[in-house]
Amino acid sequence: MPTLDSPHVVNIEDLRRLARRRLPRAVFDYMDGGAADEVTLRENCRAFQEVVLRPRQAVANEKCDLRTRVVGQEISFPAILAPVGYSRLMHPGGEVAAARAAGETGTGFVLSTISGHRMEKVKEASSKPVWYQLYVVGGRAAAEAAIERARVAGFSALVVTIDTPVAGLRERDVRNGVKELMGSSLLAKIPFLPNLLAHPGWLAAFLVDGGVPKLENIVTANGEAMPMTDVAAALSRAVVTWEDLRWLRKAWRAPIIVKGVLTGDDARRTIDEGAEGVVVSNHGGRQLDGVAATLRALPEIVAAVNGQAEVLMDGGVRRGSDIVKAICMGARAVLVGRAYAYGLGAAGQAGVRRALEILRTEMERTMRLLGCASVVELNSSLVEVPDGRLVSGPE
Ligand code: FNR
Repeated sequence: MPTLDSPHVVNIEDLRRLARRRLPRAVFDYMDGGAADEVTLRENCRAFQEVVLRPRQAVANEKCDLRTRVVGQEISFPAILAPVGYSRLMHPGGEVAAARAAGETGTGFVLSTISGHRMEKVKEASSKPVWYQLYVVGGRAAAEAAIERARVAGFSALVVTIDTPVAGLRERDVRNGVKELMGSSLLAKIPFLPNLLAHPGWLAAFLVDGGVPKLENIVTANGEAMPMTDVAAALSRAVVTWEDLRWLRKAWRAPIIVKGVLTGDDARRTIDEGAEGVVVSNHGGRQLDGVAATLRALPEIVAAVNGQAEVLMDGGVRRGSDIVKAICMGARAVLVGRAYAYGLGAAGQAGVRRALEILRTEMERTMRLLGCASVVELNSSLVEVPDGRLVSGPE
């Protein structure tokens, strides 16, 4: 197990470096990469760097209150773990380890449909909010069964992802043979095996865990968990439409949060369909390359929603100061994907806990340096957006 403490691990980039060392290239690049030219992936991070902070000096705050409420549920600081598919390939602890680390830190966890641990076990791992992210794989009946199971298990919100009518073209995955490695032909896997063998720590843990996990939360018509090898085909028939949202609103009584909104019009429509929240998201630059960085899309959506729903955002959050900037610009909280996935890939539960600790302490330090004692004090006067380049709302 690598040392996760300072001075070895000071920031999220250090966890990324450790994950890159422990994981085979196919797994690391699946996590780290984006679609096509990865323009949006890079822009998500760059947009945060363009925002300038405007501190209130000579203010003494010994402590900062980072607590907030999202759809009525309290969390210790405004960063929630985003749904990350195939987490059990990154580390055998997978979604259970991540949910436990989130719970220990006092924040929420969103379980992806594409998950290798049973949802009941994931829910048990945390006493903090745990939400279920839905892809409608296997048709409406299968999805209804899944969300009923989630309700009974105690999941307290449904996150409906709407930006995946088809998977983005992730070129690193093609080059690394992800399809071949997931497929049944041994011959096709051969060129990619040396890289797996060069990561014995990961390989041993993977084999002890039973090899490629089943997708425990997608139950097929014959009552069995879907093999991971079948999921790509199933996902390509899993598009969610506005009609589906109407049906889901009837099927799920607790809060619905729609993830993948990038325009004010879609945000308004989401509210019309009865959602309590939206996540401004481009799937971490993994779907349509060339769309706006999410921080740039945020102001238009905050304006369009006009307080009628909660606005979350994700994409490119790597620093506690990024969380502060997103909140100053109108987000209630952020989701973090890669920032914790790097920790998971590097060192399982301890790695996720370290990622959250880094983000939390960075956020607190940023707020104290800004002269803010609590999240409610964060507002647009504390940030400057150069040349209005981040504002994409109507003229
Ligand atoms: C994702 N994301 C994602 N989203 C979703 O709704 N369902 C899913 O199964 C997945 N799977 C997934 C796997 C991996 C490896 C990554 C990196 C991301 C998208 C995720 O929830 C979130 O929108 C982005 O990760 C946010 O961007 P950052 O924080 O990674 O920059």
